[in-house]
Amino acid sequence: MTKSSLFRWTTEFEIVPMGADDCAEASSLHATGFSRIWSDGEIQALIGQDAVFGFIAHRPGKRGRSGGFVLARLAADEAEILTIAVHPKYRETGLGWRLMGAVLRHLRTEGAQSLFLEVDEGNEAAIALYQKIGFSKVAERAAYYDQDSGAKTAALVMRLDLG
Ligand SMILES: CC(C)(COP(=O)(O)OP(=O)(O)OC[C@H]1O[C@@H](n2cnc3c(N)ncnc32)[C@H](O)[C@@H]1OP(=O)(O)O)[C@@H](O)C(=O)NCCC(=O)NCCS
Repeated sequence: MTKSSLFRWTTEFEIVPMGADDCAEASSLHATGFSRIWSDGEIQALIGQDAVFGFIAHRPGKRGRSGGFVLARLAADEAEILTIAVHPKYRETGLGWRLMGAVLRHLRTEGAQSLFLEVDEGNEAAIALYQKIGFSKVAERAAYYDQDSGAKTAALVMRLDLG
């Protein structure tokens, strides 16, 4: 994160652990970032699993106008990012970085050794965020994502060493 970007950070959001009450809001946020929408119920089912946890960027005292969220799963000492989305209005203000930071702090507390994720090869913003955090590509799944255009793009599998 560059010094200049620190001054763009929105201070109005606080990053808090996600609960069942946040799933509808998370579903709306997810719809701003992906064409395959995750319903409130799907997110409820995920967050109800013991291994799954998440964080959401809330405005204190203003429920229902969150800035972004992240969901992750930890099994044994290996974790994966399930999804992350920041509302377009608040992108490039440091929220994605802060959400990922909350995940990393939680995983280190839990003794996790590595964190994996999959990202579309064409998703420059997400790849730049992950590289900035220290993730590196460990594999590629060819023709993994279907684009609206009918084209298929590869998924990059990225890993961050937490040990
Ligand atoms: C990917 C995403 C979560 C990033 O969130 P964000 O809040 O905009 O990211 P941040 O403001 O915290 O940016 C952190 C770093 O990521 C990189 N980055 C973020 N957006 C970028 C962009 N549009 N272009 C290039 N780099 C970008 C930069 O390195 C940035 O650091 P800098 O500000 O010092 O340059 C957001 O773009 C998003 O929700 N996209 C749609 C959903 C999605 O693609 N999720 C990921 C699926 S794998």
